[in-house]
Order: sequence, then C-alpha cells, then structure tokens
Amino acid sequence: MQENEYFEKVKEKIKNKNLTYKIITFGCQLNENDSEKIAGMLEEMGYQETEDEKQADIVVFNTCCVRENAEERLFGKIGEMKNLKQSKNLIIAIGGCMMQEKQMVDKIKKSYPYVDIVFGTHTLQNLPENIYKAMLKNEKVRDILNIDGEIYEGLPIKRNSDFSANVTIMYGCNNFCTYCIVPYVRGRERSRKPEKILAEIEDLAKKNYKEITLLGQNVNSYMRTERENGTATSKIDSFAKLLQEVAKVEGIEKINFISPHPKDFTDDVIEAIAKIDKISRIIHLPLQSGNSKVLKEMNRKYTKEQYLELVEKMVQKIPNLSLSTDIIVGFPGETEEEFEDTLDVVKKVNFEQIFMFIYSPREGTIAAERVDQVPEEIKHKRFDRLKELYETKVDTNNEKYIGTTQKILIEGNSKNDETMFCGRTDTNKVVVFKPQENYKIGDIVKVQITENHKWYFKGEIQK
Ligand code: SAH
Ligand code: SF4
Ligand code: F3S
Repeated sequence: MQENEYFEKVKEKIKNKNLTYKIITFGCQLNENDSEKIAGMLEEMGYQETEDEKQADIVVFNTCCVRENAEERLFGKIGEMKNLKQSKNLIIAIGGCMMQEKQMVDKIKKSYPYVDIVFGTHTLQNLPENIYKAMLKNEKVRDILNIDGEIYEGLPIKRNSDFSANVTIMYGCNNFCTYCIVPYVRGRERSRKPEKILAEIEDLAKKNYKEITLLGQNVNSYMRTERENGTATSKIDSFAKLLQEVAKVEGIEKINFISPHPKDFTDDVIEAIAKIDKISRIIHLPLQSGNSKVLKEMNRKYTKEQYLELVEKMVQKIPNLSLSTDIIVGFPGETEEEFEDTLDVVKKVNFEQIFMFIYSPREGTIAAERVDQVPEEIKHKRFDRLKELYETKVDTNNEKYIGTTQKILIEGNSKNDETMFCGRTDTNKVVVFKPQENYKIGDIVKVQITENHKWYFKGEIQK
C-alpha cells in the first residue's frame, strides 16, 4: 500500500468504538471489485461489516448510471437514510459512476444535503482522508476528478468470496458506443501492468483461490493504448499474451473474462482460448443489435455478417464453446425490420444466456439527442418478443446437458433449498445437487446432470 496517513488517523479516532460499515453496490463487476477495495480500506481503518444499513455507522453507496432504473433505485435508498442520519452519528458516502455526472452531484447537493461524502471513480483511494474530514471537521466533502486518475495499486481488499476472485486488468473505455455513458464516467482506457496483475493472481492462488475473472469494460483491448503509444514496457502487451501467463499460475483452475468487444476478438485470443483448458468455455460476446445499420449508428464497428462470421470461427476453433450476449432493444430509429434482424441473429446463434436491455437515453450521449426515439410501448413489446424467443431457445438448448457430467465448483448452499449445494457449469448454468461426505464448499466435483428446470439443473455428484 502507498503511504496514507489517513488510515492511521481514522483508526486512532474510532479506536474501541466498535463502529460498523455497510456498502451498497449497484452496477457491474467493476463496481463490485471497487466495493471490495472500499471494504478493504474500511476494515483497515477498523470498521467492521454489518448486514443491516440501519445499524451501520458509515454507509457507502457505489453507484451505476448505465441505465435509468439503477439511478431511481439509488435515490429511493438515499431518501430512506434521512431519518437515520438525524437520529445518530452516521456518515453517508456516495461514490461510483453516477457521481462523475455533474447533474447528479448537483442533485445530491440540492435534494440530499445530508450526504457527507461524494467521490468519483478516479478518487477511490482518498476515502480515508475524506472520512477523516467528514468526521473531524464535519465538512461536506466533494472529491471528484474529471481527468483520468492514475492507476492506484495496492489498496487493501476484502473479497466477497474465498475461492473466486475478480481482478480488474484495465480501466475505462475508448469505444464511445453512442448509447453508452461509461466512457464519460470511467475515462480513457488504462491497462494495469502485467507484473501487478500476475502478482495479484499468484497471491490469490496461494490463498487457495481457484477461479479468476479478469475484468475490464473492453477487456480484450488490454494494453492496446500502451502498444499504440509505445509505452508498453513488458513483453506481455496483449490480451492473448496475458491469458497465457495467467493460465500458468499454479492453483488457478478456471479463468473467466468480461467484457470482450467483438471488434477486438482477434485470432490470437481465439487461439489462446482454444489451447488453454482452464479458460471458461462460456464467452460473453455482446451483440447489442443484429442489424448492420443500427450497429453502425451505435458505433459498434462490426456488421451483422461480421458478427456471425466471428461466431462461426469461434465455434469451429474452440471446442465446447457457449456464448452469452447483451442486447439492446429500441435504439433510436430502430424499425420493425431492423429489430427482426436481432431476432434472426438470436435464432442463428445458440446463445446460452442473453442479457436484454430496453434502450435508456443517457444524457450527454449521441443517441440520447436523437429525435427519433422509439416509443416506450414499442420498446416494451419488442423486449417481450425477444424474451419469448430466448426462453424457448433456453429450453431446447438445455436438453443437450441431460446425462452429461460437468466439472463444478461448489459455491455454497442453494438459496431455495439450504440442504442442497449449488454451483455453475462451465457455461454458467446453475446446478443444484445433494451434498456428499468428503466434499465441501470450494471443492470442485463432477456432477451428472439429471433434470432440466429451465433456469437451473438438478444433478448428482459422481464418485
Ligand atoms: N463494456 C461492456 C458493457 C458495459 S454496459 C460491453 O461493451 O459489452 C453493459 C450493457 O449495458 C451493455 O452491453 C449494453 O447492452 C447495456 N447498455 C449500455 N448502455 C445502455 C443504454 N443506454 N440503454 C440500455 N442498455 C444499455
Ligand atoms: Fe459502453 Fe461500448 Fe464501452 Fe461497452 S464498449 S462500455 S457498451 S462504450
Ligand atoms: Fe454501471 Fe459504471 Fe459499471 S455505469 S455498468 S457501474 S462501469
């Protein structure tokens, strides 16, 4: 950890007080990973986690602004905090992507003046100092940078799981898809140094972690900017090379990555995946739309045909490949025929999982300015049609699993039935199965799939 006197200062201040914290996270795995670092910092200062935000002495919201509904949920939650704030000594901090939007910070200031700390995506590491100021001087802290922060290595981290870990390999996004707010709130692409990433993964392996998920908004453009600028200092200067190095770390048995961009899915990446068994056979390949004109207007830089060709190539080269995807319905100007192209791609590609979104205009993006927005009702109808097609595909796809044996990491007890274990197949399907002696949470077992329940399978552990 880099020197930070404020860890000690806060620690001293709250000594013997048994103070607790609660973090409420919205959004993607990058935010989850940031929240793990926030938790690590709070524990370093002496706070302990509590499940109940009403009990907590500090509540941190880590926000997302990718679609409107995430924002609405946040404001509801902050509203609920008002009475609590009046009744006790509570610190409320709000960070994350939404706080990089000026209009949101203004809204907090005006409508929720009792919020103590507002911090952005580039200033996570200042949290101890900000807490100190809020606590000691009763200051309202606004700590937001509009330029890309340096990559800050070595923050303490408290991970959500003891065997599966997220590792952010790059920050930001340069793609500027016209619907998307992420490049505005997360800044330009910056890759972590391979030595730092590998050291983190080696350390995880020593601590008995089995599964790693490499994270980035555009994970397969790892080191691209550095390569182009001539600032890549290591031989490991591409995503494919990084995958090969990560695979060498002993003890790590499963490697996932999210999210790759189809335009950067180069042959060396496909070859690396084909060669390395440890890499998960489910790959997320965001489609967004199946129509070439819409894709062009989205600035996705591939056509329907190019996407299908890529899928074809991947299916041929990578044994047992499964794909998942993201789709947006109702992008401005999307016609009935254009939407049907999306349905056509879903019919052609056997997606194992589809994350479906209704287009949500984001202030400041190009698509939000368009006058030809699709009416809400039509967007919802298209969403329902896509969902219906997806559900019928899921059922037929599932049939091929029955009778197969899958290697599964026991993640815990099933939420719906505590007497059962659950885990996921390589293709991210949930499997529920009866515990057996000698096997515990965190072990990898062979499970035969016996029943198809559409959104999950039942199975039996094989000896
Ligand atoms: N970097 C990742 C995804 C980031 S956001 C990628 O490119 O795949 C996750 C998903 O949210 C996107 O894939 C997209 O499908 C969806 N999304 C982003 N902006 C949206 C918007 N304005 N309205 C609806 N969905 C959106
Ligand atoms: Fe958004 Fe596109 Fe970047 Fe993904 S690649 S974060 S969708 S701009
Ligand atoms: Fe949301 Fe920020 Fe992730 S906007 S999707 S939390 S990068």
